[in-house]
Amino acid sequence: MERLDGKQLSQTIKSEIAATVEQIKSRGGKIPHLAAVLVGEDPASQTYVNNKVKSCEAIGYRSTLVKLDADIPEQALLEHIDALNKDEDIDGFIVQLPLPDHIDVDKVTMAIAPEKDVDGFHPVNVGRMAIGLPAYLPATPNGILTLLDRYGVATEGKHCVVLGRSNIVGAPISILLSQNTKPGNCTVTLCHSRTKDLKSHTLSADILIVAIGKAHFVGADMVKEGATVIDVGIHRVKDDTKKSGFRLIGDVKFDEVAPKCSYITPVPGGVGPMTIASLLMNTLKSAKKEVY
Ligand code: GUN
Repeated sequence: MERLDGKQLSQTIKSEIAATVEQIKSRGGKIPHLAAVLVGEDPASQTYVNNKVKSCEAIGYRSTLVKLDADIPEQALLEHIDALNKDEDIDGFIVQLPLPDHIDVDKVTMAIAPEKDVDGFHPVNVGRMAIGLPAYLPATPNGILTLLDRYGVATEGKHCVVLGRSNIVGAPISILLSQNTKPGNCTVTLCHSRTKDLKSHTLSADILIVAIGKAHFVGADMVKEGATVIDVGIHRVKDDTKKSGFRLIGDVKFDEVAPKCSYITPVPGGVGPMTIASLLMNTLKSAKKEVY
């Protein structure tokens, strides 16, 4: 069994990007510039956004954090987005989700110019991804593809079973891994809450991607010997032996599943750290105008 170490790989990717930024600087080129919009004070969102901004600084990007009050009117948020769309120094930006209930998330997503949508959430990017055109890929699927690619996990002709059909993980990764690409060329089964006899599907998976949002949902009895297991889940559970009082677990029972696997991602330190690396890769693409 080999761990797919997202913590280490994300560091490697950040170092590679930092070297590229150095080259750009030495040539007098434009430094990539990412902006992040944070609405309200949700602690998890604050942590995520702070990590994104810190990672930008660490690799030599410019970054701008736009902090807005939780009660900002939707129209005012749309005006901030319009300003970022028009700001020529900003290569790409994200609006951290979730947004307060009074704001229509679809309206916000569609207000972001597709060529600056480094989250890959705008329907233009989703559509381009789906038909195999250059696009900004969403962070988690992109992180999974990068892990499979860099660890040399064979995908061609393999049966990939995806648990969960969300717009940001399950649906896009199922499309991406079925395409004629590397990694890709899988035969993909997408399972969800209405799937009958789930275990019959998971037991036939060469690659099992679990993005179902239920702590410790997948046990050893659901996994084929020699499978590759990608765990997208992340849950806080009480743990009095930790200083923080909690620990993080995934959608997969790692301890019992890992011995059966060829490859498996740990939680924490698997898919999670790869998402920021993906955002930074997309921002570099936007600065280099590689997509549009
Ligand atoms: N909230 C949780 N994940 C994400 C993400 O990838 N992008 C944005 N904008 N918000 C998120």
